[in-house]
Amino acid sequence: MISIIVPTYNEVKNLPTLLDLIAQVMSTYQLEYEVLIMDDVSQDGSEEVVKQYSQKMPVKIIVRHNKIRGLSDSVIDGLYQAKGKFLLVMDADMSHPVDAIPAMIEQLKLANSDFVIGSRYTSEGSLPKDWGIKRRLNSWVATILARPLAKVSDPMSGFFAICNKNLPARHTLNPIGYKIALEVLIKGGFKEIYEHPIHFQDRIQGESKLTFSEQLKYLRHLRRLYQYRYSTWAELVQFAGVGSIGFVIDLALYYLLQGFGLQHQIARAISFWPAVTSNWLLNRTITFNHRSYKKPLRQWINFVMTSLIGFFINWGSYTLMTTHIDFFNQYKVIALMTGVAMGMGFNFLFSNLFVFHNLRVEEGMQKNSNHRNSEEK
Ligand code: GDD
Ligand code: MN
Repeated sequence: MISIIVPTYNEVKNLPTLLDLIAQVMSTYQLEYEVLIMDDVSQDGSEEVVKQYSQKMPVKIIVRHNKIRGLSDSVIDGLYQAKGKFLLVMDADMSHPVDAIPAMIEQLKLANSDFVIGSRYTSEGSLPKDWGIKRRLNSWVATILARPLAKVSDPMSGFFAICNKNLPARHTLNPIGYKIALEVLIKGGFKEIYEHPIHFQDRIQGESKLTFSEQLKYLRHLRRLYQYRYSTWAELVQFAGVGSIGFVIDLALYYLLQGFGLQHQIARAISFWPAVTSNWLLNRTITFNHRSYKKPLRQWINFVMTSLIGFFINWGSYTLMTTHIDFFNQYKVIALMTGVAMGMGFNFLFSNLFVFHNLRVEEGMQKNSNHRNSEEK
């Protein structure tokens, strides 16, 4: 059986067309199915419409009372309530072609694909012609940003199918933002991905709920996925980014204080502190924010000590290299860069292992799940 999961919010105008089409296509191909309409309390008559349809086809509406409203959240709910051997997720607004469903399921059955996604960007897929440059660009940037996570041409698509047995464990799925296919794809570790070309159609009835704030959520979502997939590398990149901000603060203050008449040595000694403090704070709140915290003051002191040692490694290796090795004496900037890399490497290692040491691992899973829940709110 195929479970077709359709998240809805104020889609009463689209439901009859969608359900008629599903019933028609599924009977043509003689496929056994159920439709789960995952509705976020639209109260627009959707319930009544679905109840009527349920007399002539296998469809039910699950109205999500007392839940946080959200596309991904309702899809996840649907995935775990579905009874089918095959799970397929699609939008209600006729953007996703119903007649692609049989071929997509066939792909799961016969070709041993793990994950089938309806793609607008394969050679045969397409976008509506009237999509403006801004919308195309937007979609393109979003796609490029997700590229290192998954080798699919259209990871933004909300049209996908998997086998029920491959559904990742529920607690691994974060219902953040709009990109539930991407979330399932990464968390499920799917290998054999098949992209089924589709023509994406703009909705005719009703309005899109994809807002600017959803796009910001997408960036947060991406960050999480990178963290999940490339944990240490993702941390290192963020750590380096934070370090560069610190460097700018350091430099700006160094000049500013001299502008106020301070001696350069004194300016240098002072500017270090706001810079290192900003680094500590940003690493605490961004780079390592998925870890639980030590007491701030103690952590700050640890971080300052690590940074000082890091600085001595940086400066010491520079001095050693330039005094003992001709090459570096000639190309001092290479010695400087090597020093920076060594200092930062040390900083990162110590920060990672000790300063922002993960208390959660020791305190067990209980705290882990609390932490995750509180993060979502
Ligand atoms: N239950 C529930 N709760 N459903 C929702 C919610 C919600 O908060 N918000 C939106 N939906 C439903 C809509 O009713 C529709 O069936 C589907 O989710 C997609 O919503 P749209 O508002 O039409 O989104 P879109 O067209 O901007 O985005 C679609 O295309 C994107 C690619 O361009 C979605 O498929 C995205 O996942 C996809 O990335
Ligand atoms: Mn839509």
